[in-house]
Amino acid sequence: MAATSSWSPSSWRLHKALQLPNYPDAQALIEAEARLAALPPLIFPGEITQLKKRLAAVSRGEAFLLQGGDCAESFDELGQVPVESTFRVILQMAVVLTYAAACPVIKLGRIAGQFAKPRSSDTETLQGATLPSYRGDIINGADFTPAARTPDPQRLLTAYSHSAATLNLLRAMAQGGFADLHRVHGWTADFVRRSPQGERFEELADRIAQSLAFMEACGFDAAAAPQLQAVEFYTSHEALHLHYEEALTRIDEATGRAYGASAHMLWLGERTRGIEGAHVEYLRGIDNAVGVKLGPTAKAEDVLALLDRLDPDHEPGRIALIARRGSDKVAAALPALLRAVKSAGRTPVWCCDPMHGNTVTSSNGYKTRDFARILDEVRGFFAAHAQEGTYPGGLHFEMTGQDVTECRGGAQQLGDEALAARYHTACDPRLHGSQSLELAFLVADVLRAPAAARVRRAP
Ligand code: TRP
Ligand code: MN
Repeated sequence: MAATSSWSPSSWRLHKALQLPNYPDAQALIEAEARLAALPPLIFPGEITQLKKRLAAVSRGEAFLLQGGDCAESFDELGQVPVESTFRVILQMAVVLTYAAACPVIKLGRIAGQFAKPRSSDTETLQGATLPSYRGDIINGADFTPAARTPDPQRLLTAYSHSAATLNLLRAMAQGGFADLHRVHGWTADFVRRSPQGERFEELADRIAQSLAFMEACGFDAAAAPQLQAVEFYTSHEALHLHYEEALTRIDEATGRAYGASAHMLWLGERTRGIEGAHVEYLRGIDNAVGVKLGPTAKAEDVLALLDRLDPDHEPGRIALIARRGSDKVAAALPALLRAVKSAGRTPVWCCDPMHGNTVTSSNGYKTRDFARILDEVRGFFAAHAQEGTYPGGLHFEMTGQDVTECRGGAQQLGDEALAARYHTACDPRLHGSQSLELAFLVADVLRAPAAARVRRAP
């Protein structure tokens, strides 16, 4: 199929589609797609334009992107508590960076739609029985039974309704007072408050409260400054399940252009970024901001070809390249890639995903990640950009606001034996609240140097 052939929301079907489930009941799939197609969009095209404007500022080095949330959301974990606790931690990380680095932060959740997972094998064998692999709650259930593992199209509709409910809560929290800077002390969960990062955060919160009180004493009317009371919060997920994304594609009446109505930003996974594949074909035709995950095997020519295909017009803020190399590989591999992209005249948002290149198995059999290696990759990412004169624009991470024990290390020095206590993830190990804050403080320290220089230069 030629790249230049015409695009439609379903033209991906003419391309090879990796990582999609085999539904035994084809008719049920068609019915679920038709029902999705008749439902309201979850987001609006004007929001996509706004996010691209924000990302364009990131690509010029004027803002920083924080993209975080669950590896895989689960239908059982979508009550108020998990969503609110994740949102709190993202707010805390954002405020650390905004305050300590004096840099605007774009807040983008991996949330309200992050339900589909790529797997290395189509099947899983356990004690002699072979069943389809678990591919995320939008496709099948995690329990190892034939009933749970059979892909069920009804789950597409459940994913939509969970996304809508989650997004509704997020919008309420972002705009309805919860994110007001006057409430900065209230975002800390109790178990985080007792950690060293929690204490560091409380000091920062005290300084913010003092600054606000000072400005108000000077006659500044905080109640009349909506910037202090609300945040823009955007959503994203991996555009893996193309039946779902196609059914939620809508046309912007104002421009006549197609957009993905399931989230503000969609990203292309490391395993589905083949240039002639179905996932690239779908994403090239929608108007949303698009992320591209780049693992250790990503070559400069592949990346440039993807940029030409996904962003032929060099639209500011359209593309975020999300490098996930592994802490031991970042120094060797990233600089050449940065150079190649820069010489091609491209200025994407460059993000660091320090999670996926650093996954290991603990001595007692848990899939885990070392916090020290996560920080190493982040440092390597900043060093590579400093070396090449490019801007380290953002961080992409897997976290939860819940008090889990999934990644090793951090200030609380979680060891292998502690992982068993609260290992709850449906897929990859996530940072918990204080590890996430620790990461934000590290990034703030690295970003602070240029910010301090800016403030000194100001008249
Ligand atoms: N609206 C500003 C922003 O989003 C300031 C702000 C309000 C803020 N509440 C916040 C920043 C919470 C970080 C976290 O940057
Ligand atoms: Mn993951």
